Amino acid sequence: MRVLIIGGGGREHALGWKIAQSPQLTELFFAPGNAGTASLGESVSLSGLDEMVGFARDTGVDLVVVGPEQPLVDGLADKLRDAGVACFGPGAEAAQLEGSKAFAKRVMNETGAPTARHRLFTDYQSALAHIQERPHPLVVKADGLAGGKGVAICHRLEESREALELAMLRGKFGTAGARVVIEDFLEGVEASFHLISDGERFLPLIAAQDHKTLLDGNRGPNTGGMGAFAPNPALTPELARRIQTEICEPPLRWLAERGAPFRGVLFAGLMLTAEGPKTLEYNVRFGDPETQAIMPMLDFDLLPVLHGAALGRLPEGRFGWKDGAAVCVTLAAEGYPDNPRKGDPIHGRFETEDGIVFHAGSKRDAQNRLLVNGGRVLGVTAWADSLSSARAAAYGQVRDIQFPGMHYRKDIGGA
Ligand code: AMP
Ligand code: GLY
Repeated sequence: MRVLIIGGGGREHALGWKIAQSPQLTELFFAPGNAGTASLGESVSLSGLDEMVGFARDTGVDLVVVGPEQPLVDGLADKLRDAGVACFGPGAEAAQLEGSKAFAKRVMNETGAPTARHRLFTDYQSALAHIQERPHPLVVKADGLAGGKGVAICHRLEESREALELAMLRGKFGTAGARVVIEDFLEGVEASFHLISDGERFLPLIAAQDHKTLLDGNRGPNTGGMGAFAPNPALTPELARRIQTEICEPPLRWLAERGAPFRGVLFAGLMLTAEGPKTLEYNVRFGDPETQAIMPMLDFDLLPVLHGAALGRLPEGRFGWKDGAAVCVTLAAEGYPDNPRKGDPIHGRFETEDGIVFHAGSKRDAQNRLLVNGGRVLGVTAWADSLSSARAAAYGQVRDIQFPGMHYRKDIGGA
């Protein structure tokens, strides 16, 4: 099978690494890929959805796996299917689950998926009146895609007023912030749950946990994710079943009933509260860095699963998991998350037996030197028979890698 993976982050390297182990794979392409994916397949530069579709069709690609959300929201999966190319990833309509928080809340309300008490606002004055009435902390969320920056946790009225002003009056997120969802702050432990779907049947993946904030002890600003581990012991099998049936399957059935079957992966961001699991958000793609911790734990061939889901016929069978745990530590560039510095040279040893260094913001220059090329540079991932051994192995590997300004959290997977 010829496979094209869209994206160039740690998630795409991890997906490619797993797919490359499949006996069914004949050729692998990444668009654009990164310095790490180059050892698994060919990097191709494709700008715009039409070029992607054209390449897939002309090259005889059997399956396109879409990593990031933006091309899905923009309709890449629909265009590929129209061109007769199988695509793992939902069409634009279903992708609204991530593309619009207002849409996601509507689906949660209609299907009864538990979430925080919330309201949608389209005009600033009513939103302002609302935050003046509600107790804080409050969470202000821009409706549309905002590159992971559209959510503000506001402890005081001045903060929620500023968040509203930035989104609704000053256009910080462009049209994505013209509407906002304001919701209650939920307390608990976060978890990431992925469910692969062919539109009708479902395959849950092991739960993971992301570490979203920049600094140890969950302090500092939010980032794209400073590390992850899987499985997440906070999710008992009973909780996982509840999350699958109460939070993940209902929106997918809702979409199927409306003629928009979801063929891809639904990734629910959850808060495990004292009253049970609540939905923070839906994403319509794999989480990053979660995927870097989940892929090494798979004890089955991923490629036929993704291909089957894309075609609307998820294969039958037993999909097992390896014992133990995997930990991924994100190595970030100087200045991340606000203003990462690019161009620093990366040195070190990358080969290990019980781990892999997934690349994200990295590239090779004309002299074949490895350079920093983004905020999250590498995902140092290791697996072992326990979470604590996997953590020790990952941090052991981190010590062998250096670049100027490199920083990372020391408490991924527990202190
Ligand atoms: P979202 O993009 O909606 O997942 O929000 C990004 C992050 O903000 C989440 O991973 C949580 O850490 C936090 N967050 C979002 N909504 C809430 C909420 N209602 N209560 C507490 N934290 C939240
Ligand atoms: N790690 C969170 C995300 O991928 O959205």
